[in-house]
Amino acid sequence: MSTQGSYMVNTTIGNVDREFQRLRTQAQLTWKKEARTLSWLGLQEDMSVIELGSGPGFTTEQLLSLLPNGSVIAVEVDPVMVKHAKQYLQDVSEDRVKIIEASIMDTGLPDNSFDFAYARLIFQHLPDPVGAAKEVLRVLKPGGKIIISDQDDDYSYVLDPPMPEFQLVFEKIDQIQKNWGGNGRIGRQLLRILKEAGFHNVDLEAIISHSEMHRIEDFFKALDPEVVSQVFVNAGLLIENLVEDYKHAIEKFVTLPNSCFLFVMLMGYGEKP
Ligand SMILES: C[S@@+](CC[C@H](N)C(=O)[O-])C[C@H]1O[C@@H](n2cnc3c(N)ncnc32)[C@H](O)[C@@H]1O
Repeated sequence: MSTQGSYMVNTTIGNVDREFQRLRTQAQLTWKKEARTLSWLGLQEDMSVIELGSGPGFTTEQLLSLLPNGSVIAVEVDPVMVKHAKQYLQDVSEDRVKIIEASIMDTGLPDNSFDFAYARLIFQHLPDPVGAAKEVLRVLKPGGKIIISDQDDDYSYVLDPPMPEFQLVFEKIDQIQKNWGGNGRIGRQLLRILKEAGFHNVDLEAIISHSEMHRIEDFFKALDPEVVSQVFVNAGLLIENLVEDYKHAIEKFVTLPNSCFLFVMLMGYGEKP
């Protein structure tokens, strides 16, 4: 099993530009409800926030929009992501945002520094999620809050009518992620992870994006056939037909009159004692 985890844009994903587009669409699909839940769970406009696994900067930009009088330190391990985020956010002043290249396992930041921590779609990629949560606990101020948004593959993707090709691709991706040290079913584990790390007052929310609220095509960006195909190659799997069948199944699915797609994201919450 990998100790690096199941997400490095160059090595585990590969198709970098396409991946940036995928992440951007994915960030937009859930943002309205995420923002609502972040605020409801205590994010305030003047807080100092640490974002973990901030990626290309799209979610950092969204967080900044909720913090007109606050600031974000974005922690990201991958230099490709850091470079993109710095360029993308170059017009935002340094006292509002800093992007640092570091691992969530050892951020190098001082103890008791932040009011709020946000980790979106990173914990599913970590071989030691409890260790990561302990590091976040260390840098939060007493009373500071953490939210981990992530998925659980058994119920995060609901397609009607069911699409067997999606299921087949999904099972392979799940297996690859596991081999690389990740866990696509982390959603159900979030509260245990938070408790083991030392957080208290834990709670769990679910937010749902439905294809009647967005373009149905955008939901398939979460498992974009172009990105999937490259992930299979990187994992040494030669299953061209599977991806081709999947592509055709999507083309058909989006034209069906009553087809729908639901994406369910879980938001695990905890407080530092
Ligand atoms: C699926 S992307 C999500 C990016 C962003 N949070 C979003 O929601 O669009 C996961 C991100 O976590 C980063 N990551 C993975 N392992 C990490 C680690 N140990 N420390 C910090 N970042 C990490 C990856 O490089 C990647 O940018």
